[in-house]
Amino acid sequence: MPEALDAHLAAATSAETPWWRRAVFYQVYPRSFRDGNADGVGDLAGITSSLGYLEQLGIDAIWLSPIYPSPMRDFGYDVTDHCAVDPVFGGLADVDLLVDRAHASGIRVLLDWVPNHTSDLHPWFVESRRSRDARTRDWYVWRDGRDGAPPNNWRAAFGGPAWTWDEKTAQWYLHLFLPEQPDLNWDNPEVRAAMTGTLRFWLDRGIDGFRIDVVHCIGKDPLLPDQPPEFGDVDRAGVHDHPGTHELIREIRSVVDEYDDRVIVGEVNLRDTIRIAAYYGAGDELHLAFNFLSLDARWDERDWRALVRTVGEGLGDSAWPTWVLSNHDTPRHRTRYGGSERRARAAAVLLLSLRGSPFVYAGEELGMDDAAVAIADRLDPGGRDGCRAPIPWTSERPHGWPGGHWLPFPPEAGARSVEAQLAEEGSMLDLYRCILANRRGSPALRDGSLVLLDAPPGVLLFERAYEEDRRVVAVCFADEPRAVGYDGWEVDIASTPGPRRRFNGKLAPDEAVILSRPRRRRPRG
Ligand code: NOJ
Repeated sequence: MPEALDAHLAAATSAETPWWRRAVFYQVYPRSFRDGNADGVGDLAGITSSLGYLEQLGIDAIWLSPIYPSPMRDFGYDVTDHCAVDPVFGGLADVDLLVDRAHASGIRVLLDWVPNHTSDLHPWFVESRRSRDARTRDWYVWRDGRDGAPPNNWRAAFGGPAWTWDEKTAQWYLHLFLPEQPDLNWDNPEVRAAMTGTLRFWLDRGIDGFRIDVVHCIGKDPLLPDQPPEFGDVDRAGVHDHPGTHELIREIRSVVDEYDDRVIVGEVNLRDTIRIAAYYGAGDELHLAFNFLSLDARWDERDWRALVRTVGEGLGDSAWPTWVLSNHDTPRHRTRYGGSERRARAAAVLLLSLRGSPFVYAGEELGMDDAAVAIADRLDPGGRDGCRAPIPWTSERPHGWPGGHWLPFPPEAGARSVEAQLAEEGSMLDLYRCILANRRGSPALRDGSLVLLDAPPGVLLFERAYEEDRRVVAVCFADEPRAVGYDGWEVDIASTPGPRRRFNGKLAPDEAVILSRPRRRRPRG
């Protein structure tokens, strides 16, 4: 990294606390973020040209959903070359430029790394299915069937069995996702070497780390036993949790640890905090693991209180939590919470005040809802098109997408555009910027402990504290006002727009505040 950058980044973190514990991450879905060459699909040049926007927003790191060459059956999660860039996004030089410019702005760059499967068009799989003696046959999971049926009862994530029959070599291959996404066999040392080599390729280029796709799926029991009946016919990727995976993650981690200051954030898509906690290992596996229980929590104080408690108790002191409200796989939280702007604003305060590293999904800072995409118009095999709608940059059509847009715009695209919200004091974008700036200046919010406090029904109340810095966060999920105390405290942040310096002890419905102890007024005279 260039020298100036180190100075810039170092200023934000102390020597003891790794940067990623204090970071706010921002997920970019490249196809939908910004189109630099007017071909209707977002790209790396578009992201690079938006770094000023991201710097002003106040995030610390971006994670790019896959940019690798891909037939796009799963929009990039079906990779044909882990060490290259799909032409629709640009080339390696565009990655280098993005990384350089991002670093100069104090923003780190993470790539999505997809180790569980490749595209069926990846040369490794093309060779693997050529014959039973092929050089890479064992790089994938091939098995004989059971009396003409698949080798076990696992279901694939997008429906159907997790096995596809290969006529030519008369065996089944495993795919936890689409048939076009065959699973790699991580028991094979050549696979491990080849895949960790792809990590080194990007780490050598200055990438700051990886979001690791379905990392809990990579280890497999070689006997591939049936899924027990108590799981019902839930798809395998949602429950797979083989103990052998941990050793593989330790190997991945040891490669990343050869480099300074990098991070791995794993997608552990198990809705169970204790199981997720295991993926941090003894500090030798993932630095951070996603916990998607927050995607299931309703806009209800009881759900959030239970979740905050579960995460606090389940992860303990050493495993640092992550928090996420929206991503490219799930309806956006504004949409899940009934489309309410008030709720989306209060949720922003909540997300960015909890103990842990928050992940903001591009567009949530604009209060984006999902786009309406008719079933017949869906492009994604999982029907996730709505949450992948393009970001509206300008108020007027075509909202910064002169070459067209691959998915419909979200509702109220003009009013919720970047341009409109930059110009409007108190907009959702303004709120995100204020919360992030406030968080940056508060050791309690970044590093502090979290203690849940007693509160009236419908209110989540907690304190964040670090040495002298103490903040109280109150979120009202109720549809009536609630008295919460703390009269006279300073209002650092309020989710509802409007000037308010001192707290009057009351929260409006769907309102959230961050409070700090009243500062002693200077004596007059
Ligand atoms: C999880 C990713 O987030 C999702 O978009 C993808 O379809 C699957 N993993 C398969 O890679």
